[in-house]
Amino acid sequence: MAQNWTPSSWRQKPIQQVPDFPDKAALAETEAQLASYPPLVFAGEARRLKAHLANVAEGNGFLLQGGDCAESFAEHGADTIRDFFRAFLQMAVVLTFGAQLPVVKVGRIAGQFAKPRSSNIETQNGISLPSYRGDIINGIDFTEEARIPNPERQMMAYRQSAATLNLLRAFAMGGYANLENVQKWMLGFVKDSPQGERYRKLADRIGETMDFMRAIGITAESNASLRETDFFTIHEALLLGYEAAFTRVDSTTGDWYATSGHMLWIGDRTRQADHAHVEYFRGIKNPIGLKCGPSLQADDLLNLIDILNPQNEAGRLTLICRFGHDKVADNLPRLIHAVEKEGRKVVWSCDPMHGNTITLNNYKTRPFERILSEVESFFQIHRAEGTHPGGIHIEMTGKDVTECTGGARAVGAEDLQDRYHTHCDPRLNADQALELAFLLAERMKGGRDEKRMRAHG
Ligand code: PEP
Ligand code: CO
Repeated sequence: MAQNWTPSSWRQKPIQQVPDFPDKAALAETEAQLASYPPLVFAGEARRLKAHLANVAEGNGFLLQGGDCAESFAEHGADTIRDFFRAFLQMAVVLTFGAQLPVVKVGRIAGQFAKPRSSNIETQNGISLPSYRGDIINGIDFTEEARIPNPERQMMAYRQSAATLNLLRAFAMGGYANLENVQKWMLGFVKDSPQGERYRKLADRIGETMDFMRAIGITAESNASLRETDFFTIHEALLLGYEAAFTRVDSTTGDWYATSGHMLWIGDRTRQADHAHVEYFRGIKNPIGLKCGPSLQADDLLNLIDILNPQNEAGRLTLICRFGHDKVADNLPRLIHAVEKEGRKVVWSCDPMHGNTITLNNYKTRPFERILSEVESFFQIHRAEGTHPGGIHIEMTGKDVTECTGGARAVGAEDLQDRYHTHCDPRLNADQALELAFLLAERMKGGRDEKRMRAHG
C-alpha cells in the first residue's frame, strides 16, 4: 500500500482548479452523505480493465476512449446515452475488424462532470462572473446565482452517473451489443453519408462471418463474446472531495479503489507532482490516465511515473498525449525516448482534441483535418520509434451536432451555429467519429502488416 496515504491525504497539499464553495458546512455534509452511498463500480471490474490495458501496453490491443467533454444534467435522456453507445460501438467494431486487435472500450461517461478552466472568471458584455466548472459544481447559465458552487449538484451527478451506468451495463450485457445487431447500430443521419456506406459494407462482411460461424456451431447464444461486450467508464477526477467520498477499501485485497468510475485521469492542469491530485491518485489501485501536454518535461514525466506507478505494473498508467497537430512532432518523441530508456510500461494514447482548439465566428471549434493530422503523426512517430500506438481519446457524441469543422460531410464555419450544443469543448459528431475510426483502422492494419512482413522477411 502507498506510504502515508489516506483518501484524504491530498487535503494537506497545494491544489489547483478548486471551486470556492461558499457554504463549507453544506459541502462537508454532502461529502459525508456520499461516503455512505453505494459505489458505482467494483474493484474487480477495475482490475479486469487493468488486465486489458496491460495487454494493450504489450502491443496486443487498442484502447478506445470517447464521450462528452462535459456531461450535463440537461442532456440526461435515454436517447442521448443510446446514440452515444451506438456510435461508440460502431467505432469499436470498425477498429476490431479493421485492425484485428481486441479493442478496449472506455467511455468518458457516467461521471465526466467536473471541468478545469483556464480562467477563474468569464466576462460577457462587460460583466464578470465565476467560470462554469461543470454541472457537478455550478450552472452554465450566465447569472450570478447559477455560477455559485453548490454541493447539492454532487448528489445529482452521482444519481445521474448511476442511472447512466445502469443503462450502459444493460446495453453492453443485455443483447444490444450482440454482434448480430451490427447493422442496427447505424444512426439515422449517418445512413446516407459516405461513412454510412463504408460501415454498411463492413457490417455485411461481419454478417457473412457470423453466418459462417453459425454454420460451424459458434453462435451468439452459445458464445458470450459475440453476445456481450466489456464496457468501462473514465472521467477526470478533478473534484477530489467527491472522489474521496467514493474511495473504498476492496474487501478481497484490502486495497483502496476509486469507485466513481473504472478508470480516472489527471488533467494537464493538475499534474504537479507535489500537489493534491497526484497525491490522491498515487493511493488508488485503479488504472489511471495522465494527460501529457506540450509543457510536460521528460524528467517531470519520469518523476510522475515513479510516484504513480512505482511497481512498473503494465496497465496501470496510460499516457494521454494532447500536444496539437503542429506540436506533436516536437514533443512526443522526447517523451517516448525517456520512457523507453527507463523501460517504463505505459499505454500510449492520443488525444487529438485538446491541442487543436481554435475560435471561429465566436465558437470554440476544432478543424477535423487537424485532428486527423495529429492522429497521423502519432502513428508515424510510434512506427519510427518501434513503440505501440496504443489508443485514442476523443470528445464525441452520437448526435448530429455541428461543433467541429470539416469531415466528409463538411461542417463549415457558418454551420457551427446550427447545432452547437456542447457544455464545454466541441465534440466530433457520429459521422466524424466514424470517419476517424476508419482512418485509425487503416493505420493500425498498416502497422501490423509491416510488422508481420518484417518478422517473415
Ligand atoms: C478534457 O479532457 O476535457 C481536458 C480538460 O483535458 P486536458 O486536461 O488535457 O486539457
Ligand atoms: Co474537453
